[in-house]
Amino acid sequence: MTATVIDGKAFAATVRGKVAEHVTRLKEVHGITPGLAVVLVGEDPASQVYVRSKGKMTVEVGMNSFEHKLEANTSEQELLNLIEKLNNDPAVHGILVQLPLPDHLDSDLVINSIDPAKDVDGFHISNVGLLGTGQKSMVPCTPLGCLMMLRDHHGSLSGLNAVVVGRSNIVGKPMAQLLLGDSCTVTIAHSRTKDLPDVVRQADIVVAAVGRPQMIPGDWIKPGATVIDVGINRIEKPEGGNRLVGDVEYDSCAAVAGAITPVPGGVGPMTIACLLANTVTACCRANGLSEPEGLAA
Ligand code: GUN
Repeated sequence: MTATVIDGKAFAATVRGKVAEHVTRLKEVHGITPGLAVVLVGEDPASQVYVRSKGKMTVEVGMNSFEHKLEANTSEQELLNLIEKLNNDPAVHGILVQLPLPDHLDSDLVINSIDPAKDVDGFHISNVGLLGTGQKSMVPCTPLGCLMMLRDHHGSLSGLNAVVVGRSNIVGKPMAQLLLGDSCTVTIAHSRTKDLPDVVRQADIVVAAVGRPQMIPGDWIKPGATVIDVGINRIEKPEGGNRLVGDVEYDSCAAVAGAITPVPGGVGPMTIACLLANTVTACCRANGLSEPEGLAA
C-alpha cells in the first residue's frame, strides 16, 4: 500500500481562508477587528522566525497583530506587567508568549498570568483543566491542527485505537485528551514505554511527537494506519547542508500506512492556522457572538 499524503499546507490555507471570512464578517457586521498579541523575550533565532511568520499571517487574514519584543534580560515583573496590560486591552483578543523563555523567567507563572479567555495557546492551567474535563476551552494549536486533519480524513474517529508517542504538555497530553473526546481508545507512549514497537503496531492512528528524528520506522506501523508526524527536526545530509525530517521514517512508513503527513508541509502549517482560528474563536466568545463552525474542537 502507498499512503495517501495528507496535505497540511493546502488544509492550512483552507483554514486560513475560513478565518479570513469570519474576520471580514466581524469587521463588517460588528465593527470588531480581532487582535493577536505575540510576546517574544530574547533573540532565539527559531523563535524569531516563528514570531515573524505568525505576525505576517495574522495580518494576511485581516486581523491586527501586536508584536512585543523584549530584551533577553527582561525581569519577570516587567513581563507580568506587559501581560496585565494586554489582558486589560479590549483590542487584544489573543495573547501568545513565545516559548521557550529565558531561564531566569518562570514559564508556568508567566503562562498562568494570561487571561484564560485570551490564552490562544491553550497552555493556561484553567484551559488544561477544561480540556481534560471535556468543557469548552482554548485548545493548543498543534494538537487542534492534528485533530482537524484526522477528522477530515476519517470522518468519525469513534472507536479507533490511537497511540500518541510523546507526553509533552504542548502536544502529547492535549492530543490524547482531544482523541479521547472524539471517542478513540487512547494510549500515551513515550521513550520509556516497554515494547514500544508492539504498542505502536496496535494503532489505527499514530501521532508522533517525541522530537527524535525518524525514530519510528515503517515496520512499527499497522498496515493502513494513519500517521500524523508532529516532529520537525533538522538533520545533516551526507552530501552537506541539512534538511527537515519528522519523528517517523517517512519512506518506510508511507509504504505501509493508509495516510501520512509529510515533513515539511504536514502538521507545521496547521499550527499557525489554528492559532489564527483560536484568535477568532476568542474574539467571538469575548463579544458574545456565535463561534465559527469547524474552527474549534
Ligand atoms: N514554541 C514552540 N511551539 C510553541 C507554541 O505552540 N506556542 C508557544 N507560545 N511557543 C512555542
